[in-house]
Amino acid sequence: MAKRIEISGLNAYYGKTRAIEDISMTVEPRSVTAFIGPSGCGKSTLLRTLNRMHEVIPNARVEGKVMLDDLNLYGSDVDPVAVRRAVGMVFQRPNPFPTMSIFDNVAAGLKLNGVRGRNRLGEIVERSLRGANLWNEVKDRLNRPGAGLSGGQQQRLCIARAIAVEPQVLLMDEPCSALDPISTLAVEDLIASLKDQYTIVIVTHNMQQAARVSDRTGFFNLAGQGQPGRLVEIDDTNKIFTNPSEKATEDYITGRFG
Ligand SMILES: Nc1ncnc2c1ncn2[C@@H]1O[C@H](COP(=O)(O)OP(=O)(O)OP(=O)(O)O)[C@@H](O)[C@H]1O
Ligand SMILES: [Mg+2]
Repeated sequence: MAKRIEISGLNAYYGKTRAIEDISMTVEPRSVTAFIGPSGCGKSTLLRTLNRMHEVIPNARVEGKVMLDDLNLYGSDVDPVAVRRAVGMVFQRPNPFPTMSIFDNVAAGLKLNGVRGRNRLGEIVERSLRGANLWNEVKDRLNRPGAGLSGGQQQRLCIARAIAVEPQVLLMDEPCSALDPISTLAVEDLIASLKDQYTIVIVTHNMQQAARVSDRTGFFNLAGQGQPGRLVEIDDTNKIFTNPSEKATEDYITGRFG
């Protein structure tokens, strides 16, 4: 199920402004890759190029190549909707469909994919909620609105919704930034348990979190004010946090800037 992502020569623009420049990197399957770097260096932009969400923004465009195993995501015959199904995303703020029940929040994508029947849907909803480490907390109130859950529960609900459709890749953009420490740990545990099956990319401003959850870490930076973001280096997380190759990485992780 998990797939390798190979990014080469990737540039992303908002109108005439280039936000990220010449990114080339590999994201390994069945592991967690963290993206770190100062605000505005293009982490979220890069994430959105990986499931063709960038181009949804008016005047935004992408140059370069993203391969998901053998599939060129920007190939002319590729359906962006199918890409978004294969590459799921969890956002910074939990965004459950507010009026929908907990059950329907998880089932929504399945229904769009043509899964029918309360029993079949029920099985997948339960499996996804268990996978997201939320089942025990919500099993007695599946018909209540998703918006009635705590922030941490809502974020795990969004993760359940994302994994229900069995994506090949899971992108998470600061998934814990709105959560308290206990919910954060629950989400981190969940990420650790999902990585056997998925290719996971997580953007985080929390260095400890990157060190705890990821196998590989990519550090991004701006060459200067008004310049596009670039990948400075990507390596094993342990190496990045103990002995990075670039001075800029060391300055950032030791809190000298950013
Ligand atoms: N919708 C948009 N329209 C125009 N410019 C945008 C848009 N979204 C982001 N940008 C610009 O692109 C650059 C990269 O932004 P991005 O959100 O990718 O950074 P980031 O690394 O995720 O930052 P943060 O850590 O603050 O979330 C910034 O200069 C930002 O202002
Ligand atoms: Mg961002």
